[in-house]
Amino acid sequence: MNTTSVSPAEWSGEEPARAEPLRKVLVWDAPVRVFHWLMVLSFAGAYLTAESERWRLVHVTLGYTMAGLVAFRVVWGLVGTRHARFASFVRGPAAIAAYLWGMVQGRPKHHVGHNPAGALAIVALLGLAAVVTAAGWANYNELGGDWVKELHEGVANAMLAVVGVHVAGVLVGSWMHGDNLIGSMLTGRKAGRPEDAVRSAWRIVAVLMLMAVMGFWLFQWQAAPAWGTPAGVSAHSRDQDGDDD
Ligand code: HEM
Ligand code: HEM
Repeated sequence: MNTTSVSPAEWSGEEPARAEPLRKVLVWDAPVRVFHWLMVLSFAGAYLTAESERWRLVHVTLGYTMAGLVAFRVVWGLVGTRHARFASFVRGPAAIAAYLWGMVQGRPKHHVGHNPAGALAIVALLGLAAVVTAAGWANYNELGGDWVKELHEGVANAMLAVVGVHVAGVLVGSWMHGDNLIGSMLTGRKAGRPEDAVRSAWRIVAVLMLMAVMGFWLFQWQAAPAWGTPAGVSAHSRDQDGDDD
């Protein structure tokens, strides 16, 4: 059966609880899902390549990818499908505290879209991603000096900490609600009522996003000097200095 174990008693939709069991309905459109997994890939890749001059172009390419993804997500948060819109999930401190208190009591309210505490981590991740990429760009273009480098590294590490909290929240939330949230970010389907579903997955937008990202990577790849050329990986870094790690 296509029902889930979420109890209607824990339900916190826009309407009062009903006795019927919840079904899996389409909640996350395709652009949200493709955006998310590209963010994961870009963050992990940028973090892992941060320290090496040899991997600098990969680091910078993934960083710019992340900046583009955040810009897309801000626009999609204003014009996208209902559960993707900031207005539908960004909540104030009272709602966040109430959700966390419910968690402590072992009965957190179920939300079809993001829960208020998860939303806080999401907004923090988008904001930190914007700052880390802006500082990375300034650093790469030798603007601002040492403090920009420190800021870039510090914000990247703060982001890593928030990612840890985010993933822990996803795992605890999945367990408490009896709903596989990671699976939902892959399939788009989550426990809800038929009227909570989004009407279209907007696959064409996701395909265009993927093509834009792949096109950018291809462009960067073609612009890169052959592997093993001195001073790392970009004409940019060759122009600026010759030292390598
Ligand atoms: C537009 C995007 C980005 C650009 C242009 C960029 C550029 C750079 C450059 C040039 C450095 C070397 C700093 C130096 O040693 O002088 C650097 C370091 C670093 N970057 Fe980025 N970056 C970007 C995005 C990111 C992102 C998204 C993350 C996090 C996932 C990140 C994490 C780091 C860290 C942790 C270091 C310090 C590495 C060390 O210990 O030396 N960067 N970045
Ligand atoms: C493997 C690690 C990760 C897993 C398993 C994961 C899982 C998830 C899940 C399940 C959701 C939906 C939460 C909900 O149902 O309310 C979500 C949302 C989100 N995650 Fe992650 N996440 C991971 C890493 C990251 C990273 C590294 C970032 C950013 C750097 C990130 C940023 C976000 C954002 C921005 C959203 C909101 C999606 C949207 O509405 O567009 N996540 N994540």
